[in-house]
Amino acid sequence: IILDSVVGVLEVGLDMTSISEAIRRTNNQSLFIALTAFLFGGAYIWFFARSLTRPIRNLVDAVEGVAAGDLEHEIIVTERNEIGHLALSFNYMTKRLRGYTGNLKKINAQLEADAAIIEKLRSYNENILNSINPGVLTLNLEGQITTLNNAGIKILQLEKVEATGCTIADVFASEHPVGLLLQSLVTTPEVCRGREIAIGDESKETLLVFNAALLYEQNMELVGIAVTFEDVTEMRYLQMRINESEKLAAMGGLAVGMAHEVRNPLGAIKTCAQFLRDKFEPEDNRYKFPQIIIREAERLDQLIERLLNFTRPAEQDFQYEDINEILDNVAVLASLKVNDRRLTIKKSFDPNIPRLFVDAKRLQQAFLNIMLNAIDAMPDLGTLSAMTIYDQEKRRIKIEISDTGEGIPVNLVDKIFDPFFTTKIKGTGLGLAIVQQIILEHNGLISVQSKVGEGTLFTIFLPL
Ligand SMILES: Nc1ncnc2c1ncn2[C@@H]1O[C@H](COP(=O)(O)OP(=O)(O)OP(=O)(O)O)[C@@H](O)[C@H]1O
Ligand SMILES: [Mg+2]
Repeated sequence: IILDSVVGVLEVGLDMTSISEAIRRTNNQSLFIALTAFLFGGAYIWFFARSLTRPIRNLVDAVEGVAAGDLEHEIIVTERNEIGHLALSFNYMTKRLRGYTGNLKKINAQLEADAAIIEKLRSYNENILNSINPGVLTLNLEGQITTLNNAGIKILQLEKVEATGCTIADVFASEHPVGLLLQSLVTTPEVCRGREIAIGDESKETLLVFNAALLYEQNMELVGIAVTFEDVTEMRYLQMRINESEKLAAMGGLAVGMAHEVRNPLGAIKTCAQFLRDKFEPEDNRYKFPQIIIREAERLDQLIERLLNFTRPAEQDFQYEDINEILDNVAVLASLKVNDRRLTIKKSFDPNIPRLFVDAKRLQQAFLNIMLNAIDAMPDLGTLSAMTIYDQEKRRIKIEISDTGEGIPVNLVDKIFDPFFTTKIKGTGLGLAIVQQIILEHNGLISVQSKVGEGTLFTIFLPL
């Protein structure tokens, strides 16, 4: 351009091919380098990361193993860094744990062995407790039953078998005599010996004897009461029977001696009195006195006879007899005894009774003893009844002798057949014992029903 006018055009050209080629080559090289760097970098990072996570993974596995109870697991330590240190610590920890669990296992085994011995001892003690005859009961000071053996449950007639762990009030009714004794032992613990307690109702009374001892722990601290008890009902009964037999044996000797010594003079007294009596007419006032002598002599003779009868086996004389006739004779005898007392004697005899094979004298004595008691029971007015019934079906004869007298208290009814049991000042207590003996000799049965203030009924069954 010259002076603002274009004078010519200069064209400049440059060949770009080689430059473009160089640029493309450079680009390719850069890409290759970048790719290689990326690949190597990636691989390095991957290896690096792996070398970091593997020991952690091993550690996690090991921790999980330990958590699952595998204490044998040991981590192989390759690194000397923090993780390697952690792994070493972990191995040390599992080793110590192995040691502890080993000890624990040993202790456990020992405990199991001890428990087995204790269990064996416990069942051994329980067997002893349950195989002995006396009842054993232990109480703690809170009144809880800590031991009660099988015999104890039976003796105490407990319905609740699982008494152990219960309180006294759980097991015994509020006024139960055994419950009261145990409660008093808990309240004031004391040693007691031979405490007698009767349980059961009057019809079936059981006599128990209790002993109590105090239970101390090793440090001499009082922890409870041990009670042992026995049922002595049978033993008492046997003792009583032995005493009775001894008494009877002694009386036997006495009676035989007396019979010899007393009967002869008594016979003489009676004969003389009879002689004297016959000197007077029965209407004569003086007739009465020898008559009294005769009667009393006869009474004495009867007493001796009664003693002899009871203490030595009577000579038996069994014949076919009419029971009504025997009973009628006895009623006459009894009415003689009543004298002027206003007693009525009622008789109701079954006429169809077959003859019975009996000892008439002995039966007469039995009936008389019952009737004399009936008369004694009616000091004033009253009725004595004698009745017979033939029970064809059961092939036996039922005899009832009853009175409207004072009756027998419930607690004495069981005793009236016992020898020497009497409530009378002049009684020997042998009357009904002899009756029972005689009825048994005839294979019969005797029972009594009585109500105080209303009267008494004796029922006798004699088999054909
Ligand atoms: N019918 C009756 N009513 C009331 N009590 C009776 C009756 N029968 C017997 N007893 C009572 O039974 C007791 C014993 O009678 P048991 O005949 O054995 O002897 P006892 O009559 O006392 O003397 P013993 O017969 O030697 O005179 C009597 O003492 C009396 O208490
Ligand atoms: Mg009598």
